[in-house]
Amino acid sequence: MLNWDDPTARFKSTASPALAAVQLPVEEAPHRPSMAPAMQPTSSLSASGGATGLEEIEMGAARVRVDDKRIINCSADLNQLVPFKYEWAWQKYLDGCANHWMPQEVNMTADIALWKDPNGLTEDERVVVKRNLGFFSTADSLVANNLVLAVYRHITNPECRQYLLRQAFEEALHTHAYQYCVESLALDEGEVFNMYRELPAVARKAEWALLYTKSLGDPEFHTGTRAADQRLLRDLIAFYVIFEGIFFYVGFVQILSMGRRNKLTGVAEQFQYILRDESMHMNFGIDVINQIKIENPDLWSDSFKTEIAAMVHEAVDLETQYAYDTMPRGILGLNAPMFEEYLQFIANRRCAQIGLAEQYSGASNPFPWMSEILDLKKEKNFFETRVTEYQTGGVLSWD
Ligand SMILES: [Fe+2]
Ligand SMILES: [Fe+2]
Repeated sequence: MLNWDDPTARFKSTASPALAAVQLPVEEAPHRPSMAPAMQPTSSLSASGGATGLEEIEMGAARVRVDDKRIINCSADLNQLVPFKYEWAWQKYLDGCANHWMPQEVNMTADIALWKDPNGLTEDERVVVKRNLGFFSTADSLVANNLVLAVYRHITNPECRQYLLRQAFEEALHTHAYQYCVESLALDEGEVFNMYRELPAVARKAEWALLYTKSLGDPEFHTGTRAADQRLLRDLIAFYVIFEGIFFYVGFVQILSMGRRNKLTGVAEQFQYILRDESMHMNFGIDVINQIKIENPDLWSDSFKTEIAAMVHEAVDLETQYAYDTMPRGILGLNAPMFEEYLQFIANRRCAQIGLAEQYSGASNPFPWMSEILDLKKEKNFFETRVTEYQTGGVLSWD
């Protein structure tokens, strides 16, 4: 693989000397000369055998065909977005862009007044807010780092990468939103941003997630063998289905419940925008996972399914513990046992979405109002009906 910092001598060029300048690392070729007219290609350029899109340009290579494209281990040129193969990935990119928002567009005035009022919130309610800001403020940076430094490298499809770039920006917006909440409420930044190192309930979830990004971020890790491809698939499930699909949901319910009771409506509105982005991230991840399964059916073995089911159980246990830790006493009509039931319910849904058997028989949803927001059928409706409000940063209405 070509890294910008590597010496050029390491790379054997098959192109003509006139094209060598195209391959120079940026540091050594600050000015990239334009190609001489005689060297203009008569057919498309193609990265040869590329897994990154940064490989040497192969003159006159055959044009990219839809059938050449694959989610992983693809050798077709990664610098050519079209022709599209995975329309769903491109559509999600368009939907994400159509729902652009910025944290500063949300009015935080009422939140600031409520937080300053000594009788505005109970101590238990304040703990819930601070712990969730503590978890999410670092969790979204962790997701962004995993995405950009680990996942992106191994997804060998331009339209999926286009969505990943959009998702990466949205993760930056989420971290921005949490920072904006911390700043607005004048919370102790050191306390909030260090919780993932200082508060076990927060730290345990981050530690669990880090296990599943280490291999992908390892420069020596490459896909292309069954074991490596299973590792990638497992780590994608860990991030998209579990981290973004289970570990975020106690916090989402807690903060959205406050908004429903007219408390900290600005913070809750930020969380509602984030929840809708996250729902899209998870659905994109599930589409990627299922497409990898279709293209590589041997990866989805019985032993692999058992391993994934065990991960789901471990995650539900951790998130349940987080619910108990963040709310030892009931608040806002919520209590920890309700979250235990809810987590089992959403775990069943996540499992079904990736073709895994239901793990918690009979689990029901104690928060039906959450499925109003999360239901996939509603997602389309949301885009159709709320897109203008989203683009102008208007206030969402609470049902
Ligand atoms: Fe996020
Ligand atoms: Fe996300």
